Amino acid sequence: MGKLFGLLGHPVGHSMSPTMHNDQFSFLGLDGYYHAFDVHPDELENAVKGIRALGLSGFNVTIPHKVEIMKYLDEIDEEALQIGAVNTVVNRGGKLYGYNTDGKGFAVSLQNLAGAHFLNQKMLIVGAGGAARGIFVTLARMGAKTIDIANRTVEKAEGLIAENPYPIQSSARSIKEAEENLHEYQIIINTTSVGMSPKIEELPLQLTNMKPGTILSDIIYNPLETKWLKEGKAIGALTQNGVGMFVGQGALAFEMWTKEKPDYTRMEQVVMKKLGGSK
Ligand code: ATR
Repeated sequence: MGKLFGLLGHPVGHSMSPTMHNDQFSFLGLDGYYHAFDVHPDELENAVKGIRALGLSGFNVTIPHKVEIMKYLDEIDEEALQIGAVNTVVNRGGKLYGYNTDGKGFAVSLQNLAGAHFLNQKMLIVGAGGAARGIFVTLARMGAKTIDIANRTVEKAEGLIAENPYPIQSSARSIKEAEENLHEYQIIINTTSVGMSPKIEELPLQLTNMKPGTILSDIIYNPLETKWLKEGKAIGALTQNGVGMFVGQGALAFEMWTKEKPDYTRMEQVVMKKLGGSK
């Protein structure tokens, strides 16, 4: 009998996960199927009961359920607890185990661009919301040496830093301070939604003081190349968009569910095609 997987989110109409995972199931000859379920926040508890009753083998969780889902699971992995959010659930013999593959997915894609020693580089994260937390906690766990956080609301950046249990050098900065000192950083990551369609003219941070050769990573993939990345590229940055993080989190989830390594490059191609780009 085939195994069923899914996504719980609201809305889920534009999700690329079903196409990406279903393509891998058929490509690898696995009898699996992935469906996106639009679950209203009021129905989340019932949805999880349904998943238990129907015996889904695993599922992803996306906006707005990543935090709320935690109270309906049986066990939560330490990294997901530290991040404070779950995006991947595995059903093992009727018990639901929660994980977070967002930060790791991002780290894998960053390492692909920045090289093996990327954790020794001085990094700046722009933003201090849920996405920033996932990336910051994961990179800190992996042993990153220095990560500063710049945010419109500086107190939120301070809060993120204060809650982190790992030894890392980290300062909270205003956007203006970060802009003035941008030449210090070798890797700069935008985790805010600033620049996302339809407000594509906005920049999360001015890049005037960035050094050429800096790695610039934007977790946005809509548009595929934000104005911020375009401007960075013109100054000589090496850039990446959010497709790598999206594919990375999905590939890690797929492997947890099936114990098979998915074809990362093919996943990326499928997602790029769906987004109207090419790879
Ligand atoms: P997510 O879970 O996607 O990270 P979030 O938790 O709402 O979403 O966090 C959004 C982040 O983007 C925050 O860092 C937010 O800054 P504030 O903490 O000051 O709210 C940042 N952000 C969103 N819109 C912004 C804007 N127009 N200008 C600057 N920062 C913005």
